[in-house]
Amino acid sequence: MNKFPAVLLLMFFSTPLFSQTVVKNLLCENLVNPIGIDVPNPRLSWQLVGDQRNLVQAAYQIRVKNDALKQVWLSNKILSSQSVYVPYLGGSLLSGKKYYWEVKVWDNYGKESAWSEPASWDMGLLYQGDWKAKWIRAGYEEDSIMRPSPMFRKQFSTTKKIKSARAYITSHGLYEAFINGRRVGDSYFTPGWTSYNKRLQYQVYDVTPLILQGNNVVGAVLGSGWYRGNLVFVGKKNSYGRHLDLLLQLEITYTDGSSQFVVTDESWRSSTGSILYSEIYHGEINDARLEKTGWLTTPYNDTLWSTVHVHELPKRHLVATTNEPVKKHEKFLAQRIFKTPKDELVVDFGQNLVGFVQLKVSGKAGDTIKIYHAEVLDKAGNFYTENLRAARQENIYILKGDSVETFEPRFTFQGFRYARVVGFPGELKPENISAVALYSDLKQTGIFTTSNFLINRLQQNIQWSQKGNFLDIPTDCPQRDERLGWTGDAQVFARTAAFNMNVQNFFTKWLKDLAADQTSSGSIPHVIPNVLGENDAGSTGWADAGVIIPWTMYINYGDTNILRQQYSSMKSWIDYMQKNSTGQLWNKGFHFGDWLFYRPNDDLEGRAAITDKYLISQCFFAYSTQLMIKTAEVLGKTGDVRTYSELLTKIKEAFLKEYTTASGRLISGTQTAYVLALHFDMLPEGLRDQAAARLVQNIKDYNNHLTTGFLGTPYLCHVLSRFGYNEIAFNLLLQETYPSWLYPVKMGATTIWERWDGQKPDSTFQNPAMNSFNHYAYGAIGDWMYRVIGGISTYDSFPGYKKIKIMPHIGGNFTSATTTYQTNYGLISTNWSTKGGKLQFDVHIPANTTAVIYIPAPDIESVTESNKVLSDLQELKVVRKEGSYVVIETGSGKYSFSSRYPN
Ligand code: BGC
Repeated sequence: MNKFPAVLLLMFFSTPLFSQTVVKNLLCENLVNPIGIDVPNPRLSWQLVGDQRNLVQAAYQIRVKNDALKQVWLSNKILSSQSVYVPYLGGSLLSGKKYYWEVKVWDNYGKESAWSEPASWDMGLLYQGDWKAKWIRAGYEEDSIMRPSPMFRKQFSTTKKIKSARAYITSHGLYEAFINGRRVGDSYFTPGWTSYNKRLQYQVYDVTPLILQGNNVVGAVLGSGWYRGNLVFVGKKNSYGRHLDLLLQLEITYTDGSSQFVVTDESWRSSTGSILYSEIYHGEINDARLEKTGWLTTPYNDTLWSTVHVHELPKRHLVATTNEPVKKHEKFLAQRIFKTPKDELVVDFGQNLVGFVQLKVSGKAGDTIKIYHAEVLDKAGNFYTENLRAARQENIYILKGDSVETFEPRFTFQGFRYARVVGFPGELKPENISAVALYSDLKQTGIFTTSNFLINRLQQNIQWSQKGNFLDIPTDCPQRDERLGWTGDAQVFARTAAFNMNVQNFFTKWLKDLAADQTSSGSIPHVIPNVLGENDAGSTGWADAGVIIPWTMYINYGDTNILRQQYSSMKSWIDYMQKNSTGQLWNKGFHFGDWLFYRPNDDLEGRAAITDKYLISQCFFAYSTQLMIKTAEVLGKTGDVRTYSELLTKIKEAFLKEYTTASGRLISGTQTAYVLALHFDMLPEGLRDQAAARLVQNIKDYNNHLTTGFLGTPYLCHVLSRFGYNEIAFNLLLQETYPSWLYPVKMGATTIWERWDGQKPDSTFQNPAMNSFNHYAYGAIGDWMYRVIGGISTYDSFPGYKKIKIMPHIGGNFTSATTTYQTNYGLISTNWSTKGGKLQFDVHIPANTTAVIYIPAPDIESVTESNKVLSDLQELKVVRKEGSYVVIETGSGKYSFSSRYPN
């Protein structure tokens, strides 16, 4: 276990008067009281909360009880500071059962906490035989063009007093389930998107409050979704199968200990209702006149409904759900309802978002309202949909003629800021229309705000592009006929994503699909889940997601499981590159390269923005191999450490020979080439400074502009900071003319654009074949803002912020920055401001961690903490003066530093 720094050991012997340490925020498998866990040893995490400085956990004890409150595990008092991912080590856990757990801790001041408030988890169905339900399919002949949503129902009765009830549900296609007219859960697009034929998730719901004593009805509606809907390009459908199927199992437990199962089988009935058509790209048609009124309640006569077909479909690939489901989030009201120059009625919601429009309307039966969706208006102010390509993004609602009707689609989502409404009966008023954002229900973990409002808007844009593209899987874009899990985009954005939200389970799930869809040769597909061809794989910087993302998650969350889970997938990818190399030079195959780099029309001066693709592939070959070595070290696989270290040396030698001159000039003189060569340590130490100088010269040649594409952009500012060019990094960040991060902000963007010039300075658009206005890749600058301006990072050797590095950088025109980040241990925050030659610097470090804090200051003597000079403070250790910083080591607590700061 982690050793306590000397300064913390000291604290064992003094016991000041502080409140008792409390244990809070209990998580199982990183979730709050999860239902449906299918690992044999779920991992438990908690946080210590206390107000004294340098608080660490000295020991812990866990107890677990079963449903009948009988103890099933009492751990020993374990002398350890581990408070995250502690595995359950009691007896075997039973399918479908609930377990309660509590934890207590002893801190380094010798105090013992009380037992925590109990938390719980429920096991999922651990064995195939636990599934009593059968796969059912609608029994009528389907309209194979429109493919209306099938509905299923089953009446049943209960006779005894109900103690609890659980529903286990999955489907081919998307499902929404109901019990006695009430929706089961509040998730959308269930069962989520996985590599369906290899891993199909089921969800588990506590439906106790929905079941009645007496007559009940359970029902479900299905949508084509990713399973069989249009995906990838026009006309392509049925990626996983042609038919929609439902698998549902209800287990009702009575107070007398007996239980009853209600499961999908031949006794169910099927029919269609108001959803005539439903496609993710194209939208939904809902004819409310066709609603089967009362079908979700009893009594209801379903004799005219069809029977169902029972199918012996596989269940061996059913898995519990690891990640947070998609839920409804922010609601946007109409900011403006107006007529465009083309005389179209358009609503502006003020934010480019992903979700759908909700309508509230009164009219006659048969009145038809069409809602179209767009991200932008064109130069003339007209509704612009060309960049959606073949995606229609069109919802149609046909009224049934009730007094007030409400509509929202069920199995589709749109990417939009503007809605065009056609056929609304009467005047469309703000109270008739709103927009709801839908995205994976991830905990928001990061806040970054500064004195510069353009940068604050940039940060919001990054967060909105993350929200819009974290809809169960990480997608490239959410609006055109694509919306796929492009590996390269996810790879470049993962670290930023992990600052903004807790993406651990989100990526843990997606990486399982990545491994599942990896080709037999070890190559990694361009998109995950892979709905392209088997050969659409192996592009550098894209396929490397299979190594870079597991490592990024490990660094952020300190979870070695993710490395174990992905290890053989990671190895296969490295081995693939090696096999496809000649003399360790990986210069074969198709690569996207530095996708969407800046392509100037006037590049006549010998400047360069185009990077040789094989130079890039050699850099990523090295980087992934480097991360493989680190992974093997963490997992104690010494043989692999040796093998991959030898490989790495050869990769770098091959790079030098093929792509550099003797003096260290690269054959592509671009920003991306120098950024990758420097960030991945491709050059020997002696050649690095000159390379950094060439990078800076290139930036100057472009008049202080970046020219990088997807692969160079994430590391550009990091490299500049590392080699002492912080001011250049700040200049790039603050550059307002194209290409830059702030150019779209100045053009009114509310999300990150796919291209640096999605909309040109004259307000015309880039090529509509590739022009998304919601593409997070360039938002990868967020990582630099959090880590460098905010100064919050962790150490590879103490990942997951067990040991924290705080090192803010003051620069550009910023006079203040506030950065907060929720880690597994609790909140880290930094807040700096400069005024009148003085720096105020407040820091919060959570309990059970240690920190090295770099305080910007000219000398040690000028620094105070809460008005005391540093030498008067026992609880922190002044380590050294380093450059423009005073470095201290300490532990948890709130610190308020002041220092002289020339400005
Ligand atoms: C996507 C990208 C993706 C790329 C591959 C595009 O169509 O939108 O973001 O990474 O293809 O280069």
